Amino acid sequence: MATGKISPSLMCADVFFLDETLRIFEENGVEYLHIDIMDGSFVPNFTLGTEYCRQLRSHTHIPLDIHLMVEDPETKLNWFNIQPGDIISVHWEASRHLQRTLAELRSRGAKAFVAINPATPSEYLIDVLDDIDGILIMSVNPGFAGQKLIPSVLSKIQRTRKWLSDSGYGHVLIEVDGNVSIENARKMRAAGADIFVAGTASIFKDGIVTAERLQALREAIK
Ligand code: DX5
Ligand code: ZN
Repeated sequence: MATGKISPSLMCADVFFLDETLRIFEENGVEYLHIDIMDGSFVPNFTLGTEYCRQLRSHTHIPLDIHLMVEDPETKLNWFNIQPGDIISVHWEASRHLQRTLAELRSRGAKAFVAINPATPSEYLIDVLDDIDGILIMSVNPGFAGQKLIPSVLSKIQRTRKWLSDSGYGHVLIEVDGNVSIENARKMRAAGADIFVAGTASIFKDGIVTAERLQALREAIK
């Protein structure tokens, strides 16, 4: 199994130190930048936006991992200048025509992921397993950083990994998002997760990231 990948949650980054933060990510081989987009309707919060994504692309080569916590995501794909190699996650709970949206994401060269809230069974995705590159399993209820892992999610990750492998879809990646502390990351990795959204629980403290914290997380997800 390939080593785990790190996707820092930029909603946790102090914007006034963002350039330095991006350099630390590049020097430490961070694989993605997790961009939480919230519309205040699907989740009770606003965070980063389209202009933020546009500017990011001119400041770093690291691919974006855009998490659309928005209603009707299929109507908003054109807002993000999606690039080949990006991960784009749309929520099962917010998509009226999920298969069409996933096909649209792939037609733009992106990795098509479906995000599911803690209460949504992974098995609801049985009819789109051919259309997805990954599942983003929320380990907290989406909307805010600083929350605590919902314990049942650990067995959900394990059950999902087994279900995917047993169904011949072992190539489908599992990304985890929410309270990915060093200790939780170790357990999530053991349960079968591949990509780890790193926020205040692991690499950010007061909006600042350090190479040491990144290395500690890397060690936990080998
Ligand atoms: C949930 C948030 C969190 C955040 C990660 O909607 O998006 O996933 O980025 O931050 P911590 O590590 O504080 O959960
Ligand atoms: Zn997220």
